Amino acid sequence: MSAFEVIIYEKQDGIGFITLNRPQALNAYNLRMRDELYEVLSAVRDDPEVEVVILKGAGEKAFCAGADLTEFLTAPSPIIARRARFERDVWGLFLSIDKPFIAALHGYVLGSGIEMALCCDIRLASEDARFGLPEPGLGIIPAAGGSQTLPRTIGRAAATEMLMSGRWLTAEEARRLKLVNRVVTRADLLPEAEKLAVKIKSHNRLAVSYAKQAVTRGLDLTLAGGLELETQLGRRLIDARG
Ligand code: COA
Repeated sequence: MSAFEVIIYEKQDGIGFITLNRPQALNAYNLRMRDELYEVLSAVRDDPEVEVVILKGAGEKAFCAGADLTEFLTAPSPIIARRARFERDVWGLFLSIDKPFIAALHGYVLGSGIEMALCCDIRLASEDARFGLPEPGLGIIPAAGGSQTLPRTIGRAAATEMLMSGRWLTAEEARRLKLVNRVVTRADLLPEAEKLAVKIKSHNRLAVSYAKQAVTRGLDLTLAGGLELETQLGRRLIDARG
């Protein structure tokens, strides 16, 4: 069980469950959550017992309503925020983990909520999920990689519309834009995420990890570079499996 304050971390049969747990504040991302997420992600990365991770939000209303506005944009925020980033690069850590992550998204998925989801490989949403970037209304831009991960996921036009106009998406729109893999009922959200995790876990874990690396690292390469990467990983996998 979890020893954290704003995150619950549980492990069951090779699946790690990370729950954002500030339901009274719609799971808004604060400094405490940053620190605990960093600890949990480090543990997940290093724990050989954890093969797949499910990221979800506590409470009925939200996966995460973005950065905590009570500590965010308060003076002298730009300097502190920058320093905080250098102290603990949660997003760099998140994106560097070669294990599969599934995001189970419900209710408000805003700002850093979307960005956390975009650090995951597969996103499932319940019908009540709403996706938005409040940043333009606050006169800022995303700080958790969203300006890069969102266009790589839904394309330039849809991403810039969200980033510049602040338009929100319904779950169904998010599915059409491929921001989420599929939409299920609220009751089915966690069971579906678990079913998927079990399916992934049934496969060779090194093959799964290399498949993730081939895709995520390959997306930053030319096609020729990506094909070379695939060949290298494929060879390494065969060698490792002997
Ligand atoms: N930071 C801190 N607290 C937040 C929060 C945030 N980002 N989002 C919601 N909360 C808190 C509210 O202050 C409220 O607390 P209270 O009960 O002590 O008053 C509680 O969560 C419930 O939110 P509430 O606004 O009453 O719910 P709602 O259903 O009416 O509205 C939202 C939901 C998401 C539309 C609204 O809360 C909102 O706009 N939040 C800010 C989103 C945002 O700008 N995030 C920053 C992105 S960079």
